Amino acid sequence: MTILVTGGAGFIGSNLVNFLASENQVVVIDDLSMGKIENLDKSFNIEFIKGSVTDNILMKKLLKEKHFDYIFHLAAIASVADSVENPIKTHKVNFDSVFLLLELIRKYQKSLQRLVFSSSAAVYGDEVSLPKKEKSVIRPLTAYAIDKFAAERFVLMYSNLYKVPTSVVRFFNVYGPKQNPSSPYSGVISIMMDCFLKIQTNIEAKFTLFGNGKQSRDFVFVEDVLKALMLVSKSNSAIGEVYNVGTGHAVTLLDLISIIEKTLGFKLPVIYEDLRLGDISESLADISKLQTLGYKPANTISRGIDKYIKYLTSSNGYIFE
Ligand SMILES: NC(=O)c1ccc[n+]([C@@H]2O[C@H](COP(=O)([O-])OP(=O)(O)OC[C@H]3O[C@@H](n4cnc5c(N)ncnc54)[C@H](O)[C@@H]3O)[C@@H](O)[C@H]2O)c1
Repeated sequence: MTILVTGGAGFIGSNLVNFLASENQVVVIDDLSMGKIENLDKSFNIEFIKGSVTDNILMKKLLKEKHFDYIFHLAAIASVADSVENPIKTHKVNFDSVFLLLELIRKYQKSLQRLVFSSSAAVYGDEVSLPKKEKSVIRPLTAYAIDKFAAERFVLMYSNLYKVPTSVVRFFNVYGPKQNPSSPYSGVISIMMDCFLKIQTNIEAKFTLFGNGKQSRDFVFVEDVLKALMLVSKSNSAIGEVYNVGTGHAVTLLDLISIIEKTLGFKLPVIYEDLRLGDISESLADISKLQTLGYKPANTISRGIDKYIKYLTSSNGYIFE
């Protein structure tokens, strides 16, 4: 199979690419604004293109010249805060690139088996009912969430009107190896882990907790996300459908800290600050729709954290199950 992964040098993308490359030819396009080339295994099965998914000429050439069996569109400015700062810039990546890709697929990719678009639980916004079902109220609050939802609708419309085989996944809070902790708005577990590892190597570090720590999230280990992506991309009944990707269990940030403290055997110094504007207090996925495709998350939070720590502290790397 030949597979295109946009944003394939990023956190979820690189885990997916390295997994797929054992048996497939994988083409990666990434502008390296957040991703890193080192995230990708050195493999003859991986072709890396440094470029932007917003570059019409480059994308047209790529989609016209190569034939893909599957496309995973993961490229995005994944920071909600960046979308608040720079809504026009992020709109170009988070929405326009999806529209462009859909048109190019319609024109040039007649044998595509599936486009999987990565959306986000952010589309549900601050509507309070839990757990979130795919049919729950949508109330996107930021440019990031609005772009994701608008892109979702186009992705589904191309399936309905033009018979482009598409599916949408809404990721909850994904964590695991290769998540970049460099921004204060990166995934909270990667920032926490970064702090823990600094302390372990005697570098002074403190974790800033916004709010009282009782806010909860559905944290899903990236290994389970890959399983979800495989199920959704291979299942015919997933064409034209949207799926939540989470675990169906929520964990508070205070619980999370205590799980990591127990595993590592020392305390995390915490500074408490006010809740950030727009942060929601609770998030939880209803994963029953994804379960109908055979999805069963294998990693509880403790198990996922354990694997993540092994990856960060072992020089042999970490091999997914
Ligand atoms: N990590 C999560 O918890 C989470 C939750 C919900 C949704 N998502 C979505 O999943 C996808 C992957 O997220 P991630 O956590 O791996 O983030 P990430 O930032 O690690 O990956 C995104 C990748 O896209 C690349 N990119 C950005 N702009 C680009 C452009 N114009 N052209 C080409 N590449 C570009 C970045 O360099 C990066 O490698 C994103 O679409 C994100 O919105 C992630």
